Amino acid sequence: MSPLSITRILPADATAAALRADVAQGLTRTPKQLPPKWFYDARGSELFEEITRLPEYYPTRAEREILLTRAGHIAAATGAHTLIELGSGSSDKTRHLIAALTELRTYLPVDVSESALTAAGEGLLADHPDLTVQALVADFLQEMTLPPSPGPRLLAFLGGTIGNLLPEERSAFLRSVHGLLSPGDALLLGCDLVKEEATLVAAYDDAQGVTAAFNKNVLQVINRELGGDFDPADFDHVALWNAEHEWIEMRLRARQDLTVKIPGVDLAVSFAAGEEVRTEVSSKFREDGMRAELAASGMELSQWWTDSAERFALSLSVRV
Ligand code: AVJ
Repeated sequence: MSPLSITRILPADATAAALRADVAQGLTRTPKQLPPKWFYDARGSELFEEITRLPEYYPTRAEREILLTRAGHIAAATGAHTLIELGSGSSDKTRHLIAALTELRTYLPVDVSESALTAAGEGLLADHPDLTVQALVADFLQEMTLPPSPGPRLLAFLGGTIGNLLPEERSAFLRSVHGLLSPGDALLLGCDLVKEEATLVAAYDDAQGVTAAFNKNVLQVINRELGGDFDPADFDHVALWNAEHEWIEMRLRARQDLTVKIPGVDLAVSFAAGEEVRTEVSSKFREDGMRAELAASGMELSQWWTDSAERFALSLSVRV
């Protein structure tokens, strides 16, 4: 048997159906909204990679710093035989972790992108020929089950992507993580931290306009997949700090009254000048809040590491 197996849990047409449902619902409600997962077609993923290299966008560098300094501790504390990674993408940062996990036998990356899983899996096997890589094409926000794997397990959810979930979605997600693990297994969770507003807003509204292009890319996805006639130039990129909820919101604001046709969902959607579509929520966290959310889902926080500038945190928890 090849040490790389790829199992598709998501039906091939599930993505198209989910996009239609999200666009039909999100653009007919008030206020309008679209889920952030639709940013990430090939172009959007490229733009996100570019964002991670921007001077204003600190989370990726901060998380890498923590992983580099703490990988040995994570390995010793968990003794993981299996590493499960949700939203693994290019598995880039995970390489440090895999190199440090001396007892590791199985790597189970989960992502919606089959091409990313294949590329990442092949790259990893070149360096770790004895590793079993069982990739799963799945949406970790939907209910899912994992194939049997040797314990103890470490489940990693990196990048601060947990911030994209609204509070209720977050508790459901943490409950399902609890369900995927056995007592004594560990969770490694990356989250961005509450900090000065100007720093946060700059990270989501960079001087070069890369984040603006990333935000508007969702309109191109709708145009291509659903035959829409959005003109991205009709919209302004908006990034703002919501102090009540402690999250960044990205929005697209119509520059004038306009109507967009989206044949794939049989809709004509009207925008008033100044009307906004919320395209992303990116929550920022505090240690106490995260500890409480984890505890409510049956996980006990055991380590909380920040980067040297205290911008981002990586937490290690034990599944009770
Ligand atoms: C990939 C969800 C962690 O919220 O910071 C980057 C996505 N959006 N710039 C984030 C994103 C705008 C990113 N996550």
